[in-house]
Amino acid sequence: MSTGTTHAVPPHLDPAVWPASAQVGVDGAVSVGGVDLRTLAADHGTPAYVLDEADFRARARHFRTAFAEAFAPLGVGVDVYYAGKAFLSVAVARWAHEEGLRIDTATGGELAVALRAGVPGLDVGLHGNNKSDAELDRALAAGVGRIVLDSLEEVGRVADAAARAGTRAPVMVRVTTGVHAGGHEYISTAHEDQKFGLSVTGGQALAALRAVLARPELELLGIHSHIGSQILDPSGFELAAHKVMALRAELAALTGHLVPEVDLGGGFGIAYLPGEVPLDPERVAKDTARTVAEACASLGTPPPRISIEPGRAIVGPTTLTLYTVGTVKPVSVTEDLVRTYVSVDGGMSDNLRPALYGAAYTAAVVSRAAEAATVRARVVGKHCESGDVVVRDVALPADVARGDLLAVPATGAYGRSMASNYNHVPRPPVVAVRDGVATVIVRRETEDDLLGLDVG
Ligand SMILES: Cc1ncc(COP(=O)(O)O)c(C=O)c1O
Repeated sequence: MSTGTTHAVPPHLDPAVWPASAQVGVDGAVSVGGVDLRTLAADHGTPAYVLDEADFRARARHFRTAFAEAFAPLGVGVDVYYAGKAFLSVAVARWAHEEGLRIDTATGGELAVALRAGVPGLDVGLHGNNKSDAELDRALAAGVGRIVLDSLEEVGRVADAAARAGTRAPVMVRVTTGVHAGGHEYISTAHEDQKFGLSVTGGQALAALRAVLARPELELLGIHSHIGSQILDPSGFELAAHKVMALRAELAALTGHLVPEVDLGGGFGIAYLPGEVPLDPERVAKDTARTVAEACASLGTPPPRISIEPGRAIVGPTTLTLYTVGTVKPVSVTEDLVRTYVSVDGGMSDNLRPALYGAAYTAAVVSRAAEAATVRARVVGKHCESGDVVVRDVALPADVARGDLLAVPATGAYGRSMASNYNHVPRPPVVAVRDGVATVIVRRETEDDLLGLDVG
């Protein structure tokens, strides 16, 4: 009977997958941001999200400069909105803003975090396919820079909210271009049969844009297109940009109004597994700038100011989730295969993506040198579902044992932000590391937090 044994390997820290400052020390233990993960676990407990602040800031800057430089020859500026849905906290909103980004929010809660961080309303955008009146009123009171309309019905609702607030609401209209892109059906957002946006081909996009122009309480800033998430093939962005520029020109021909801005959304894919190649922001920026220049030249329209909304590509690779190994159980799968089930002290409550999308991750023992031969392992959580899988298939040292620290990299996006209290498990803290210092930016939930909501 084989155990799927391969060669012994030390933790392989593929720089595309692990936080930029991750390093293996002489004793084989891993540090991030100059903080030994064993010390971090001792001080803050596990599970914990460990976020490399310098990496976050560098990625934010990279998007800003790559797009600004690519579009400079067209004579137009670029605004980068950090998509807070990927992960938002007061500290992260502040870092993003300090690095020259604006904040894209999708709910009143995300808006509240951005405002708490001191981000001026003008530098915040509000999305959402079902915004409440309270969310609209709050956004207008905060003076947000734009509200992205997602339905024809919302044109009237936002105009009425603006009238109530005695202001003029700056709006964009989110359109679906029919370009289907992204890592999973649930995160592909511009094909026709889903809930977001207004169809270009079906004519609803044009109707909504004209409806906005008919309402004096609304200021039409532009057209918004987000085609999906975890996109690794840049051609979708170009195709969508073409379609949006054509729609902009069509609206101008019909109404005489040339919208000044176009948002091309987020969705820039990252590497989750060693060997995967993330989408290169510089390449997308250059390709999209060329597409916009060519499209506008052939349509006879000046290029618009551009905005983008990256979330995952800024925060995803900056963070790892640190767990402690508990039960280790060999399971005979077939006569030829024994799989080692490694249970950790978290699971689908801190990372829903494997259960939701079948998302793949890697893992490594980070508290010691991993010199033993490896076994085929499955990292699982502590929840009451057999689908509570953290990493479906990974080679771990055969001597992996209770008490080892295990890290799963690239969990910064849609990890903490989608976390739940399933099985009444308190959500882990987010600990930022930088220059040898670990700082809790979101504290661990406690049983008192959970019981405090239960009013009997
Ligand atoms: C409108 C919009 N903008 C931006 C994003 C961010 O996408 P990503 O995190 O893949 O960059 C999303 C994600 O769903 C979105 O719906």
